[in-house]
Amino acid sequence: MEKGSLLYEGKAKKVYATDDPDLLIVSYKDDATAFNGLKRGTIVGKGVINNRMSNALMRLLEREGIPTHYAEELSERDTLVKKVRIIPLEVIVRNISAGSFAKRYGVEEGMAFADPTIEFSYKNDALGDPLLNEYHALALGLACREEIETIKEYSFRINDVLKDFWRSCGVTLVDFKLEFGRLPDGRVILADEISPDTCRLWDSKTGEKLDKDRFRRDLGGVEEAYREIMRRLEEKTEGTR
Ligand code: TMP
Ligand code: ASP
Repeated sequence: MEKGSLLYEGKAKKVYATDDPDLLIVSYKDDATAFNGLKRGTIVGKGVINNRMSNALMRLLEREGIPTHYAEELSERDTLVKKVRIIPLEVIVRNISAGSFAKRYGVEEGMAFADPTIEFSYKNDALGDPLLNEYHALALGLACREEIETIKEYSFRINDVLKDFWRSCGVTLVDFKLEFGRLPDGRVILADEISPDTCRLWDSKTGEKLDKDRFRRDLGGVEEAYREIMRRLEEKTEGTR
């Protein structure tokens, strides 16, 4: 499958048309941004890692019965995906307090919740992705009631699968962001990516951050952290393609 015209360039990915109207090619860049694009940089090798990691995790989720946009890995940075209309919600699942949750509610990072929690943001850069609840999402017509129920059900199941997987790698899944899309027939499937850009991943023993917080917070060792988390994933997923 060849890349057609460039349809969209985001902060971390480019999206191309293909000969098949139902398929797109996503191409992962090394560009990194944070705080709604205010902070910019490059994480050398990130595109390759995020592409391969996201694909491995989506294949795992597919095997566990979660429908995703993943179709085929074409190269180090390029993946064929099913074309969807993205539902403009950022769905965040949290197992442990961190980031904006810790800040907003005045709690320390690292507080483990009895049960995972979920929140939604309106995916809108101009507004800074404001937090919203399900009723707001319905009022704004971003998704219907049934879609929101499906999204919540899938998100918690995804959390169960990913938490177990990362635990087997010696990594704690703190929180992550998901995006969903609609297929032409209306079915809701997982889209976008699952990578160190979109998850918080802490070493289970040392608590060391192995994700994009190293970039966001200028902690150093960014590339090394991406390589380390990829190494751990590959150790577990070898031969499962
Ligand atoms: P937060 O604590 O900053 O709200 O982030 C929660 C999770 O969502 C964290 O794993 C990082 C991820 N995330 C994104 O993938 N994209 C974003 O734009 C933001 C703000 C967070
Ligand atoms: N990628 C997002 C941005 O540019 C935020 C983040 O991941 O922290 O702003």
